[in-house]
Amino acid sequence: MTETTASALLRQATGALAGCSDTPRLDAEMLLQGACDIDRTAFARDPDQLVNNEKEIVFAGLLARRCSGEPIAYILGRKEFWSLELSLNEATLVPRPETEILVQAVLDAVPANAAIDIVDLGTGSGAIALALARERPLARITATDISARALEQAIQNAAHLGLSVRFCQDDWFAALTGKRFDIIVSNPPYVRENDPALECGPARFEPARALFAGTDGLSCLRQICAGAMEHLKPAGMLALEHGHDQQTMLATLLSAAGLESIVHFDDHAGLARVTTARKPASIRK
Ligand SMILES: C[S@@+](CC[C@H](N)C(=O)[O-])C[C@H]1O[C@@H](n2cnc3c(N)ncnc32)[C@H](O)[C@@H]1O
Repeated sequence: MTETTASALLRQATGALAGCSDTPRLDAEMLLQGACDIDRTAFARDPDQLVNNEKEIVFAGLLARRCSGEPIAYILGRKEFWSLELSLNEATLVPRPETEILVQAVLDAVPANAAIDIVDLGTGSGAIALALARERPLARITATDISARALEQAIQNAAHLGLSVRFCQDDWFAALTGKRFDIIVSNPPYVRENDPALECGPARFEPARALFAGTDGLSCLRQICAGAMEHLKPAGMLALEHGHDQQTMLATLLSAAGLESIVHFDDHAGLARVTTARKPASIRK
């Protein structure tokens, strides 16, 4: 069998991906690295290096998956978030750029050397908890998820990054009885069940349990808001990511739960995607 060159593979893949990806060349480069261990630097040094048949077959398999719409992060099993390289499995959501707005909102509220208690509910790959652990090394961070498989991945990511987070399997606050935190942070599922927008997008490859939250998309946000007062210290903060059209309903849920000082944070498109609120300092129980 004749061997092909890296440049030929890259050219063919970029062409094949032109109709199904906004970033065909970048995707092709990432697949070349994933399948053939040829990164940009190695490619630039020798674009016509030969790729053996075994690697070419692996490359073709990854390319077919990408052409079917599967996110590159699942194909390669990794995604960068907050400059942390996170591994993913079939139970973890691909961390999104807007979740970095949530991390920033928490960091803005926590002084650099604060030894405070933080819990990340629904941690998935560990993205939020691990970003906070990297930025606030003195904070005592707990991270929970209902999915044992997601937690396995988060634990592995923490070990790989050398970051200290306490993980526990939990259904929102069920295993946190009697525990109080300075900050509760969560990017919970908030998509309406049967949302037609998701039927053909990349989200169809993601775990349903990480996305869907009842017919109005609010069932998880509702449970978290309802449990927040009992698990926040006085003046503690709840920080939530949510859908672009859920800001008003969420503010109502937060107020109804007794939280105050509600602040919304916009994404780069000017849509409110993160909201914080505080437990009144006067409420000590
Ligand atoms: C939108 S994903 C967010 C994952 C991660 N925090 C991130 O931002 O990339 C929601 C996560 O909540 C978890 N989850 C769903 N229902 C839950 C529940 N009842 N209790 C705890 N976690 C839950 C899912 O398994 C999933 O990992």
